[in-house]
Amino acid sequence: MQNIMVTGGCGFIGSVFIRHLLLESDFDGRIINLDKLTYAGNPENLADIAGTLSERYVFIKADICDTDDISHAFDTYAIDAVCNFAAESHVDRSIVAPDAFIKTNIEGTFSLLEVARRNIDQLELFHHVSTDEVYGSLGASGFFTEQTSYRPNSPYSASKAASDHLVRAYGKTYGLPVTISNCSNNYGPYQFPEKLIPLMILNALEDKALPVYGDGRNIRDWLYVKDHCRAVWEIMKNGTRGQTYNIGGRCELANIDTVSMVCDLLDDIQPREDQTSRRDLISFVKDRPGHDLRYAIDSSKLEKELGWTPRESFESGLRKTIQWYLDNSQWVERVKSGEYREWIEQHYQ
Ligand code: NAD
Ligand code: TYD
Repeated sequence: MQNIMVTGGCGFIGSVFIRHLLLESDFDGRIINLDKLTYAGNPENLADIAGTLSERYVFIKADICDTDDISHAFDTYAIDAVCNFAAESHVDRSIVAPDAFIKTNIEGTFSLLEVARRNIDQLELFHHVSTDEVYGSLGASGFFTEQTSYRPNSPYSASKAASDHLVRAYGKTYGLPVTISNCSNNYGPYQFPEKLIPLMILNALEDKALPVYGDGRNIRDWLYVKDHCRAVWEIMKNGTRGQTYNIGGRCELANIDTVSMVCDLLDDIQPREDQTSRRDLISFVKDRPGHDLRYAIDSSKLEKELGWTPRESFESGLRKTIQWYLDNSQWVERVKSGEYREWIEQHYQ
């Protein structure tokens, strides 16, 4: 793999993945980042890479639904692998306005697969990044394995499930060399502050309410974003073609405990002037419709076959994440104020 097309590389996980591959891994080729720059896409996430590694990094503003643009990129850059991160990714948005999720997550993946199929002779791998949410919701016990049946409950997870099925089908029907990964909830630097952890960090810093849905007993299995990216790269290099791999942190926490931990770590790193606990900002609000109760991933296949294990504990990862948001106040301000959009409009119309 020398010319990897990474889609959605200006988002949260995609940007960390590109940085990891170019600066910290054994990859010595070129990355072609194809991203539509939706509200979640921010080229500032990779400004350092674009500035210093221009011979190994190319950015193309394009939609994964546009087969002409994708084909052009394949021809121009001799693409030999695809890693598909591009997606609409926020469950709450999918409940309010599912259309973009159907378009990008299903039709977009289909368009990418079609171009990949036409270029099958030059393609070493099509890796599809997906979520554990395709498996639905667990009760108090048990784990999602690669054999668990798909039972998605939100428009987001249903659209990701459909895309996973298409990828698998292209592997079976056309012999496209595919792999799929289904990962648990990520957290870390560059996450758009609509998702639980960055939203709580930034609200708490401004002494704003911390909205916890329902009774806060819903459980998520958290993984530090860089551990996810290491796993994806390991699967791309050494995963068996045609296979699915679950990725998870063995780190189940009820939302109320996650939010309380954010408060406690913030109080430790940057105490309030009056020394009171930020836990007093926690506010229980109306539950999300169809809110999955519990996610928990069994990643033993990945651990046994490819020797991957997470490196970051939740406490160390969360501390790093909070410190990153504190150290990157300019990034935070530009995202919160919408100034990053003005820059995009000036540069890309
Ligand atoms: P994100 O919302 O932060 O970023 C998505 C990126 O995709 C953005 O840069 C956006 O501009 C781009 N994009 C959206 N529509 C596009 C289109 N039509 N064409 C080209 N680019 C488009 O998402 P994320 O949290 O980084 O998630 C990345 C992938 O990982 C997604 O496929 C998601 O389903 C999956 N995933 C996320 C998590 C998580 O906790 N965030 C967990 C498991 C799996
Ligand atoms: P989120 O970060 O949206 O990820 P996902 O829905 O993909 O798991 O939400 C994580 C959990 O936190 C989920 O159970 C919903 C809950 N949540 C809140 O309680 N309050 C919030 O403001 C948000 C955004 C999420």
